[in-house]
Amino acid sequence: MALSISFLMILSLFASASLCFSQKSNGGYLYPQFYDLSCPKAQEIVKSVVAQAVAKETRMAASLLRLHFHDCFVKGCDGSLLLDSIGTIISEKTSNPNRNSTRGFEVIDEIKSALEKECPETVSCADILALAARDSTVLTGGPTWEVPLGRRDSRGASVSGSNHNIPAPNNTFRTILTKFKLQGLHIVDLVALSGSHTIGNSRCTSFRQRLYNQTGNAQPDYSLDQSYASQLRTGCPRSGGDQNLFFLDYVSPTKFDNYYFKNLLAYTGLLSSDEVLFTKNKESMELVKQYAENNELFFEQFAKSMIKMGSISPLTGSRGEIRKNCRMINSH
Ligand code: HEM
Ligand SMILES: *[C@@H]1O[C@H](CO)[C@@H](O)[C@H](O)[C@H]1NC(C)=O
Ligand SMILES: *[C@@H]1O[C@H](CO)[C@@H](O)[C@H](O)[C@H]1NC(C)=O
Ligand SMILES: *[C@@H]1O[C@H](CO)[C@@H](O)[C@H](O)[C@H]1NC(C)=O
Repeated sequence: MALSISFLMILSLFASASLCFSQKSNGGYLYPQFYDLSCPKAQEIVKSVVAQAVAKETRMAASLLRLHFHDCFVKGCDGSLLLDSIGTIISEKTSNPNRNSTRGFEVIDEIKSALEKECPETVSCADILALAARDSTVLTGGPTWEVPLGRRDSRGASVSGSNHNIPAPNNTFRTILTKFKLQGLHIVDLVALSGSHTIGNSRCTSFRQRLYNQTGNAQPDYSLDQSYASQLRTGCPRSGGDQNLFFLDYVSPTKFDNYYFKNLLAYTGLLSSDEVLFTKNKESMELVKQYAENNELFFEQFAKSMIKMGSISPLTGSRGEIRKNCRMINSH
C-alpha cells in the first residue's frame, strides 16, 4: 500500500512537471482554437489577404515572416513592432534592424481591417503576425503548423529593445546565440529559424563589410566563396548602393526549401550571420549539415521552432488590449 501511494505521488509529480514544461514551451495558454467561437473565419481571412499580397509580390512572404521575428524578440510577441510613432510612443520601425528594411505593414493593415469588419475588436495584431508568418511559409513551399493563438497587443514599443535584442548581420556566432538564449531559444532554434533566409532579400549595406578588405578587417573573409564575392561586388560597391537588393538564397530565392543550408556548405551564405552557423561552432555546423541533407528534418524543426518563437512572453488574459488599428494603441 505504502509503495503504491508513493508510486502515485511520484507519478503525479511527473505529470505536473511535464504539464509545466509543455506550458512553458508552448507559451502558456495560447491555443490554436482561440478564435473558433469568437471569430471562426479569422484564419481564413488572414490566409486570403496574405495569399493575394504574395501573388502580387512573392517577396512579401519573406517580409511578413520577418515581421513576426522582429515582433517576438522585443517584449515578446505583442504587436509592439507595428506601432507608429504617435504621442509618447517611439516606433520600433525606427530601430537599426528595422529602418529602411522591415516591410509589409500595409498588408497587416489590410488583414486587420478585414478582421475588424468580420468581428470587431477580437483578433489581436500579434496573432495576425503569427498567422501571416505561417501562411507565408506555406505559400512559398514550406511546412505548415497549427498556430497557438490568444496573444494580446502591447500598449507600448521599445526601440532600445529592438536595437539590442535583434541580432545584427555582423554579430559573432556567440553574440547571436546569446541573443537567442535570452529569448529562451536554443541552438537548434537558431539554426532552423535562420533557414527563413531561404526566401527574401537583403540590402547591400547588410553584408558589404564581408566584401572588402576594410581597415579593421585584417583579412579578407575566407568564409565567403571568392567568385560569389566578386559577383556580389558588382552590385554592392565599396560605397553607394546601400539599398541595392540581393537574394538571401541565390539558388532558389522565392522557394522555401533547404538550399539556404546547402549554400552555407558551399560558403555562399549571403550574410556573415548565416555563414558563421557553419564555420564557427561544431554543434551548429552539424545541424547545418543535417538540414542541408534532409529537407524534412529542417521542415519539422522549423515548425517546432516557429511555435516556440511565437510563444515568447505573450500578453494573455486581461493584459494588453486588442488594438482596433495595429499602428496605434486604443486610447492615447
Ligand atoms: C539569426 C539571426 C538573424 C540575423 C542576424 C538576421 C538578419 C537579417 C538581415 C540583415 C536581413 C536583410 C535585411 C535588409 O538588408 O534589409 C534579413 C532578412 C530576412 N530575415 Fe533575418 N536575421 C536573422 C534571423 C531571422 C529569423 C529568425 C527569421 C524568421 C524566423 C528571419 C527572417 C528573415 C527574412 C524572411 C528576411 C527577408 C525579408 C525580406 O525580403 O523582406 N531572420 N535578416
Ligand atoms: C532611410 O529611412 C529614412 C527614414 O526612416 C529616410 O529618411 C531615408 O530616406 C531612408 N534612406 C533610404 C536610402 O531609403
Ligand atoms: C557592424 O555593423 C555596424 C553597422 O554597419 C557597424 O557600426 C559596426 O562597427 C559593425 N561591427 C563590427 C564588429 O564590425
Ligand atoms: C588586407 O589588408 C591587410 C592589412 O590591412 C593586408 O595585410 C592584406 O594583404 C590585405 N589583403 C588583401 C587580399 O588585399
